[in-house]
Amino acid sequence: MLSKFRFFQISATFSSPAPRKKVHFPQIVAVTAKFRSQMGAASYGTSSSSVSKLIFRQLFEKESSTYTYLLADASHPDKPALLVDPVDKTVDRDLSLVKELGLKLIYAINTHVHADHVTGTGLIKSKVPGVKSIISKASNAKADLFVEPGDKICFGDLFLEVRATPGHTQGCVTYVTGDGPNQPQPRMAFTGDTLLIRGCGRTDFQGGSSEQLYKSVHSQIFSLPKDTLVYPAHDYKGFTVSTVGEEMQYNPRLTKDEGTFKNIMANLNLSYPKMIDVAVPANMVCGLQDVESKAA
Ligand SMILES: [Fe+2]
Repeated sequence: MLSKFRFFQISATFSSPAPRKKVHFPQIVAVTAKFRSQMGAASYGTSSSSVSKLIFRQLFEKESSTYTYLLADASHPDKPALLVDPVDKTVDRDLSLVKELGLKLIYAINTHVHADHVTGTGLIKSKVPGVKSIISKASNAKADLFVEPGDKICFGDLFLEVRATPGHTQGCVTYVTGDGPNQPQPRMAFTGDTLLIRGCGRTDFQGGSSEQLYKSVHSQIFSLPKDTLVYPAHDYKGFTVSTVGEEMQYNPRLTKDEGTFKNIMANLNLSYPKMIDVAVPANMVCGLQDVESKAA
């Protein structure tokens, strides 16, 4: 425990202190008015000596309409990187990109135990020695590291803050980029299935609760600055990013009062998730159920 937060940093190498034809191409997204580079690296900070540069890519897996996010600190000599919600089927693509950008992948992170695809974390671990998998302690799934609310996941001088956002599943978390002069502005929230663009994840499986989801979104996500960028785990309509302010104004479910929201969620009449019986058992063990055959 370090002060108020627990910090995760790779020990020896990364010990610096403070530091979607429907083809979707990996995107280079400018996340700030302070965006200074043409190459996908955003600079933050007030002096050249303390500037941190975020490398950010939004990647898409078309079968499950899942977004995987790659973040790295380009200003750190080792260019430490992490992947949020990697999918087993697109691991090779993601790792090729990591290599081409000269990044050092240190973490493979999940927002929750997914029911619609198998996580790529196990496969990544088998292909890139030293990568640590991360998931919330509340998920009860296996991983190398477990995070709790308030924890910070550091990569170079940048970090993700962990916010508990149960409701879609009991262990759902939202990862939010840091709040500080040397951190990305506007902030970025990786909301998993808790908050989707103009929607939200279902709440009828995996310990889901519409009441919890409603409270999670309002207390942990809608409380962020309105210009915070919302990056969900999925989109089915072609949207790529939203903002907290946009969703507070236009989300057709979460702009309602809690009673109306619960009624909407109880009457969605969704079909049984087709991948759930395969994906959930695999994801509970970090996607390591049959890694050897996949890695072959
Ligand atoms: Fe999910």
